[in-house]
Parts: sequence; structure tokens; C-alpha cells
Amino acid sequence: VVLVVDFGAQYAQLIARRVREARVYSEIVPSTMPVAEMLAKNPKAIILSGGPSSVYAEGAPRLDRALFEAGVPVFGMCYGFQLMATTLGGTVDNTGAREYGRTPLHVSKAGSTLFEGTPVEQSVWMSHGDACSAAPEGFAVTASTDVVPVAAFENDEKKLYGVQYHPEVLHSTHGQQILEHFLYRGAGIEPSWTTGNVIEEQVAAIRAQVGSKRAICGLSGGVDSAVAAALVQKAIGSQLTCVYVDHGLMRKGETEQVEKDFVAATGANLVVVDAQERFLDALAGVSDPETKRKIIGREFIRVFEQAQLEILQEEGPEVAFLVQGTLYPDIVESGGGTGTANIKSHHNVGGLPDDIEFELVEPLRQLFKDEVRMVGQELGLPEEIVQRQPFPGPGLGIRIVGEVTKERLDLLREADAIAREELTAAGLDREIWQCPVVLLADVRSVGVQGDGRTYGHPIVLRPVSSEDAMTADWSRLPYEVLAKISTRITNEVADVNRVVLDVTSKPPGTIEWE
Ligand code: XMP
Repeated sequence: VVLVVDFGAQYAQLIARRVREARVYSEIVPSTMPVAEMLAKNPKAIILSGGPSSVYAEGAPRLDRALFEAGVPVFGMCYGFQLMATTLGGTVDNTGAREYGRTPLHVSKAGSTLFEGTPVEQSVWMSHGDACSAAPEGFAVTASTDVVPVAAFENDEKKLYGVQYHPEVLHSTHGQQILEHFLYRGAGIEPSWTTGNVIEEQVAAIRAQVGSKRAICGLSGGVDSAVAAALVQKAIGSQLTCVYVDHGLMRKGETEQVEKDFVAATGANLVVVDAQERFLDALAGVSDPETKRKIIGREFIRVFEQAQLEILQEEGPEVAFLVQGTLYPDIVESGGGTGTANIKSHHNVGGLPDDIEFELVEPLRQLFKDEVRMVGQELGLPEEIVQRQPFPGPGLGIRIVGEVTKERLDLLREADAIAREELTAAGLDREIWQCPVVLLADVRSVGVQGDGRTYGHPIVLRPVSSEDAMTADWSRLPYEVLAKISTRITNEVADVNRVVLDVTSKPPGTIEWE
């Protein structure tokens, strides 16, 4: 394993992903972890991430010098670089000379371990206030910028390396190459990690964990739960039962995808609970968004627990495990997490006995989203499931502004299917993050179709671009594509006589309308 020491900000996750792109397995550890504990993980190399602090700021994270004396190759980036410099006796000045963004880098030792085979002049991404003016003893200075005399240093004997910039971001033109040089040449690591290894490892681990007992898994129709279920299915076959609650708020074809394609690809035992009427009844007369969300969440849990209870009562080995599609970023963001957590199911609603506890099976807990998609692909899941864009749990229920009824759902499903079809046909699926299609059910506007006046509802298109859904911008879709979607929706969907485009970023608008 290669450890990425996290000094704050969001850089560590990106670095860990880049290391894996170099086919080397990586894990993130907090900078507060004692060095002895880091070394106990037997890392083949350690990378120090950037961070928001100045090394001179009060309370700025520090590193025990022992880290550099353990014989483990270390690569410092940005803050990690400055920390390395100060800890090992170099000089970092608070010069006030700042560099932000794209910066020309002058490589002064072209054949160095890091820079071998890359141009003498390259463009890198900088973000720092302090600057290193003298490298520690024993280090060769291998690059500089117009502002910073020491922008990279290397000590081949001790296997210690550092760069002032961020090689992990794409704006650093040879960043990936330099990271690979550190891993392969500096640390002598063979690239061998693939998502194929993950499948083998996880299958063995799941078998060991579950033994001869049974497991259940809730399928949402999304990528994560589908891939987690497929992986567990591969490991324990018929000992797994998947439960899918059809709440009637899914988009056109999605329930069928789970019912047919997922089962065809995995051979999983699937229980589909048709709860459409139950959800419609519960939502009748409700138009407040928060109330809708709460009702949908509540009904979902009730239906799911009822299904669980039925499975528990079947003949067969004990049902002791619950499969979840938790991803690595969830684990990192919640503070690292260790081992298996025990959760207690909501016995108050489904009537489960008090003492039933499930142990969690989380086969994706080491993976990033793009890796999950790769695993899904290797497991033979259909493209429509593996490449699926995010879709909210409450589904179309929160894309109808106003009361949710069967007629409105059917109408929105048609409009949404047209928008998705045209976006896919135009090859825009990877470019946009998602495109909610919203029915303004409580709004009517006058139109003219054929020779007659109409009084119909508007449909809103909300295409957005985003990295993580925390912030988003509206996607600048080609006019021809928008025109085609608009024409088709107004022609093909009864009662819709207007299509409008949402041109609001997030913030201030959220991605969904409710
Ligand atoms: P907002 O509307 O808050 O959405 O900008 C951010 C992202 O989250 C999705 N979303 C949800 N996903 N359950 C989910 O699983 C929910 O209740 C929910 N609400 C919003 C939304 O589609 C977007 O990707």
C-alpha cells in the first residue's frame, strides 16, 4: 500500500485516485495519525498531500522527523513539500510572494528521477504563499519557477522527493508522469493493482465473512447498490436475496432494468415489492417538498422492513448480513471508519424482534466511484446501470412541483424519457452530471397547437455540470439539442405546451427543484 497523508483540503482524495490510476493501491490516512502507526501498515511509499495552512501558522499540522528516517520513500506535494523542507533543515520563507494557478516550471535537472523524459519547460498548478529558498542538505534542486528558487528537490539516496506544486491536478501537464516516476523509479513499486484484483479479493473476503449464513441487499436502481449486490452475488450466490421497492416514482424503464437486466446479468434472487399504490395513497393531497420527502422516506423504510421480515421468516440459514454500497469517499469523509459496524434495524415499524442485528457487508468501501463503475463493467452489469447518472432516492416525487398523482407521474416519465433519449443520442451523457426534468404541475400557461388554444403545463430542463453535486453550473447544451427536446416534448406529451431551460448555478439554486 501507498499511504497518502491528508493535510486537509480536498487534495488527498485526488492524489489517492491518481496513485490508483498508476495501478498502485493507495489509502488515505489523517496527518494526526502517529508515524509509528503509519509505518505499522508497511507502506511501500508515503505521499504528503497539500493543505490549506502555512507551515508558519499557529497550530499548522506537523510531522515527526521519524517518518523521513524509516527508509520508506516519501514524496511531498505543496504543503507536504514545505513541511519536508522545514523538518529536514531547509529554508521556507514567508516572502509574501504568492503563486496561484497555472505557472511555468523550469526543470534544472532533466534526467532526474522525477523529471526524466519530461520537457525542461512545463506548466504546473501552484497554490502557495510561502516559498522554499534552500533545500535541505543532501538534496538536489531539480526545478524552479520565476518566483520560487526551489520548486522541486530530490534525494535519491534517501528516496525523498518533493515538489512545490500540485502534480495531481490535470492543469499540471506532466503531473501523472512525475507521480509515476516517484512510484516506479523512486520507490521501486511494480504497477499491478487493478479492479480485477478487487473482485477476487472481495469475493474471498465476503465468503469468509458470510460463511454459510444469508445476506440481504436493498437495490435502489443506482450504481453503488447494484455493483455491491453483484459482487456479493458472485461470492455467495443464492445465499443473497436482493430487495427492490417499486415506489412508482422511478423513471421510464428503470424498474424493468433492475427486474430484468440486473437479474439476467447476475442471476440474483430478487424480490420486487410493488408498492406503487401505497406511495400514491400516502402522497395524495401533499405538495410541500419536505413533507413529500418525509413521507417517501418513511414509506420506503416500512415496505423494506416488511420485505425483510418475510425473508427472515423463510426456511433456511440465519439472515445475518446486510449489504451496502458504501464508497471510499463516504468512509474518508466520516473520519476513516474501522472494520464492520453493527446497525440495528428499525424494529419499531416492521415488527422485527428487538434483538435482531445485521452485520454490514460493504465490498466497495475501498473504491472511488469511477472504480465502482469499472468493477460493475467487469462483472457484466449492463451499461445502463453502470454508467447511470445520479438520481435522487425520492425519485420523480420531488420533480413534480405540486401534488404527485399517477397521471402527472406518467406525463413526467414521458417527457423525461424524451430528454434522456436525445441527450444520449447527442453524446452528451458524460458531459453533463445529470439533467433533472421537472413538471410544474401547479403552473399553467396559454399556448396554441393546431388551430386551438391550449392551457397546459411547463416542463423545466435542468442540465447541470458538476464534480460532486456540492456545487454545479448549468450546462451550455447545444441549441439544436435543446430545440429537438422541446419540439418532441410539446408534440408527444399531452398537456405540455411549453419547455423552459433552468440557467441557474448552484448556489444559489439546488440541482433538484424540491
Ligand atoms: P441538490 O438538489 O441538493 O442535489 O442540489 C444534490 C444531488 O443529490 C441528489 N439528491 C438526492 N439523492 N436522495 C438521494 O439519494 C435525496 O433525497 C436527494 N435529493 C437530492 C440530486 O439528484 C443531486 O445529484
